Amino acid sequence: MVDFSLTGKIALITGASRGIGESIAKALAAQGAQCILVSRKPEGLDKVAEEIRKEGGMAETMACHMGYLDQIQALFDNVKERFGKLHILINNAATNPHFGELTTAEEGHWDKIMDVNLKGPFFMIQKAVPLLEAAGGGAVMNVSSINGVSPAFLQGVYSISKAGIISMTKAYAKELAPKNIRVNALLPGMTDTKFSQAILGNKEIHDYVIQQIPMGRAAQPDEMAGAALYMVSDAASYTTGACILCDGGMLA
Ligand SMILES: NC(=O)c1ccc[n+]([C@@H]2O[C@H](COP(=O)([O-])OP(=O)(O)OC[C@H]3O[C@@H](n4cnc5c(N)ncnc54)[C@H](OP(=O)(O)O)[C@@H]3O)[C@@H](O)[C@H]2O)c1
Repeated sequence: MVDFSLTGKIALITGASRGIGESIAKALAAQGAQCILVSRKPEGLDKVAEEIRKEGGMAETMACHMGYLDQIQALFDNVKERFGKLHILINNAATNPHFGELTTAEEGHWDKIMDVNLKGPFFMIQKAVPLLEAAGGGAVMNVSSINGVSPAFLQGVYSISKAGIISMTKAYAKELAPKNIRVNALLPGMTDTKFSQAILGNKEIHDYVIQQIPMGRAAQPDEMAGAALYMVSDAASYTTGACILCDGGMLA
């Protein structure tokens, strides 16, 4: 039997207050997972948690900035105290404060992007390992991007961070397999969220990007949730170190 059920599983999703993270959190909750929704601002998280509970799901919220290790440590202290274990970790939150050529990137841009997009997820996994082990094993899913495979023009530093996520996924997958912890990555293509408004909100750039997508449109955030559910459920019990593209054929 293929098993997509998450009943009895505790799942932590970062960047769950909107966009792709919100869609993934709602999909996991609909499959029975008890969701811990994480981002910086409690207001957005509370709204999503409320919507999940209205649909009969389980969700609570914990605020954490992915760029600060002390906040990440405090987050896992909270999870440990509240649940004592964790089955699923989804590293989805990311930022991109630099839209421009690599030659114009400043140290502050580099540090912010690498702190939030790469260092944060790295330590999220490291801190999660004891709790995943306490659950008897589990699944980690990192959200990279098609830009991690093929760097996007004017998004070079961000693309470098997303390439790092792919390597980190494979490195952790190899190291954690003996602990029964699987680590995979989702590589979204252009998806209609607040994050992509710098591109989709500008008609000229929008049209240029869309014409490169064989399916001829951007994705809706919900279209990322199926692949995420696969990767963190027992349906993917023999899948680790994998990168799943959801890109409308863009990298085909
Ligand atoms: N949209 C696309 O076209 C696209 C394409 C490929 C890959 N992706 C990837 O998909 C993931 C989700 O993107 P999205 O499009 O859904 O973005 P989004 O709609 O802007 O949502 C970003 C989420 O991350 C949270 N967040 C931002 N900075 C944070 C920080 N420093 N610490 C903790 N949480 C933080 C935000 O909440 P707060 O503001 O409350 O912190 C929000 O919940 C990202 O990894 C992105 O790189 C997106």
